[in-house]
Formats: sequence, structure tokens, C-alpha cells
Amino acid sequence: MGVFLDSVPFSGIIRIRDMMYTVRDPFRLDQGDVSFDAPDSVKTAMHRAIDENRSHYLQTTGVPRLLDLLAEKLRHRNGIPVDAADEVMVTTGGIHGLYIICQGLLEPGDEVIIPDPEWPPAAGNILAAHGVPVPCALHERLGWRYDLAELGSKIGRSTRAIYVNSPNNPSGGVLTREDLQAIGDLCRERGLWLISDEAYEDVVFEGEHVSPASLNGMYERTISLFTFSKSYAMTGLRLGYVVAESPQLRERMKKALFYTASNVASVVQFGGIGALEGPQGSIDAFRQELRSRRDFFYAGIRDAAGHVFTGDPPKGAFYAFLRINPEWRAPAEITTTSQSWGMTEFLISRGRIGCVPGVDFGQNGEGYLRFCFARDRRELTGALESMRTLFA
Ligand SMILES: Cc1ncc(COP(=O)(O)O)c(C=O)c1O
Repeated sequence: MGVFLDSVPFSGIIRIRDMMYTVRDPFRLDQGDVSFDAPDSVKTAMHRAIDENRSHYLQTTGVPRLLDLLAEKLRHRNGIPVDAADEVMVTTGGIHGLYIICQGLLEPGDEVIIPDPEWPPAAGNILAAHGVPVPCALHERLGWRYDLAELGSKIGRSTRAIYVNSPNNPSGGVLTREDLQAIGDLCRERGLWLISDEAYEDVVFEGEHVSPASLNGMYERTISLFTFSKSYAMTGLRLGYVVAESPQLRERMKKALFYTASNVASVVQFGGIGALEGPQGSIDAFRQELRSRRDFFYAGIRDAAGHVFTGDPPKGAFYAFLRINPEWRAPAEITTTSQSWGMTEFLISRGRIGCVPGVDFGQNGEGYLRFCFARDRRELTGALESMRTLFA
């Protein structure tokens, strides 16, 4: 690594976070964090783990009870034919899961096809493993899905894997069962791995969430990535997991896991056990509340800034990815040539509204802006009122 890491960019989200700290009473629609709190089952389990002195080293890939519960969950909720609990390993959040996947899978120069737009750490983790991210557009006119012929045309001699992320951050696009079947066929025909990032598996408002590893014969070439962050409002606790059938790949990923974490924080793993053993009603409750916040936010945008931002409500995840009216011009003191950065700087400096420029997610995102509508209604209302004044 060393000097090489200078060529791996940080996400613009970091720059925005720093800009937001200079704003008084900000509306933090930039962060992909829910305003809910973790369910009591998680908190009780963590309290108990502390009281029982569960503060010692654990198995590298995860405490056995947690792995058993995850294998059950993957079989029953995701339909993935997990044979044994040792096919699962827990990680310090989804981002760390993606890190160990890339370290375990890629050789220098290996290409991985990623969606454009996409959550920036996907490209960052591929680059950090000396791989090459190859963007393939998700199209707004297709509900932020692929043109599958275009996806096929991106496969070349160096392609090692296709990374899919459904529901997608930032666009909220949800791939259909047919899409995933076709992508699975491409992987089989061309001898590729499929990396499936399912961070938003529980946030689907229309349609269904399909785990590609559940499709016929796909488990053996799919590495699936999940997190407790969004489903159980555990963003700061850092708990994710990866499941793969290949023992050789798992052995490699285990080394990357061991050398970066030794084991995931013990108390947090017991929190994960609490989450899975406890009632699951909060997942549906979160989704219903997120759907109503989505509808509230889109109605508010139409009302307060409909001449500036347009777009259809997403089928999944909790972001509004909105097209900026191309006629809009930033005031003279904002000198950036990127329209999405110009609008971001304008909304932060004049309106106290945090957001992320679409171009931070890929070239295809230029001209768009991402707002997180998982914030509480007071914050959403404040941001909408501020927009109404700005764009009056
Ligand atoms: C697409 C996607 N994958 C994975 C993650 C990882 O989340 P965490 O590291 O909090 O588990 C996120 C978080 O925002 C995400 O948007």
C-alpha cells in the first residue's frame, strides 16, 4: 500500500461532512443514516454482554451462535442454500465486508464492473485491492436499472467480477428477478464472480428483493454482502457479514479479516445475536415509516422546488436522487464547473441543507443530487422550508 494509497480517492461525502460542521443548525440530509434507534433487543443483549464480561478475544470469523443465526436467516429470508455456518463471516460493517471481498478475490489489474451511479466505497475498495472499477450506467428511464446489452459489452479479458447493488445507493433502483437471472447467466457464460451488495435488502417499497445467490446454481459464484446498519439501525455499531460457498475464497477473505480486525468487537456481535433472536417487527415498522417519509419528502419537493428538482420516488433504499434543472446556475461566488457540486455548495452555504452531488457516485450522476429522507420529519420539514425560501 503506502504511496499507492495516494491514488485511491476519498469519497466526496467526507468533504461534505467537513463542510457541514461549519454550518449552524444544519439539516443533515447528506448522511445515509436513519434517525431511528436500534431495537431494545440489541441494547439488552449488549448490556448483558458487558455485565457478563464478554470482553475477550473471539473466533476470527464470528461467535458461533451469531454465525448459526445468520446461516438460518440467509436460508430462510434470502433463500440462499447455505450448507454450514462456516460459510458466513462477520465483519466490521458492510464496508469492511467489501474490503475483505476485494482483497480476497482480486489480482492486480482485475476489472470489476460497478453500477454508475454507485456508493463511492465500491470503487474505492476495488482500487485499494489494486483492481480496476469499470462503470456501467444505470438508466433513469429504466427505473435506474441496467441496459443488459450494455452491461454485457463491458465484459472484457480482464473482467473478474460484476458487482451489483440492489436496491441501489444512491438511485434507489431495484433490479428485477429477470435482471438478476440475466446477470447470473452472463457470469456463468463468461466465468465471472458476482458480488452482491444487499445493504438495503429490507428497504424495498415496490417489487421484491431478490438475492442473486438464491437463483439456480448461482451460490457457488456469488459473494453476498449484508449489514445490520440499515435493517436494525446499527450504523455506528459496525456489524456486517459476508457469505460465500468457495472454501478457497473464504480462506483468503479470512486472512484479510484477521489482519484488519482479528475479530469483530465482542459486545457488538452479542448485539447482533440480540437483533436476530428478538422480534423482527421493527424492520417492517422502519420500512413503513421510510415509505411515508419518502412520500412526504417528494410531495414537499414538488411543492417547494418542483421547478428545480425532478425525479420519480425510488422503489428501494432511502434516498431521493433528483435531477437538477439544467437551466439552474450557481451564484457567481460558487466557481465549480460541476453543476451537482455547485448546487451542493449553494444548498449548504445558503440553505444549511446537507446533500451529496450526484457526480460523487460516478460520471452518470452529474446533474443530480442525493438527499437522504431517512432523517426525522423535523429535519425534512426544515430542509423543505429552507428550499422554499431559496427557490421562491
Ligand atoms: C450500498 C451500500 N453498501 C454497503 C454499505 C455499508 O454500510 P456499513 O458499512 O454501515 O455496514 C452502505 C452504507 O451506506 C451502502 O450504501
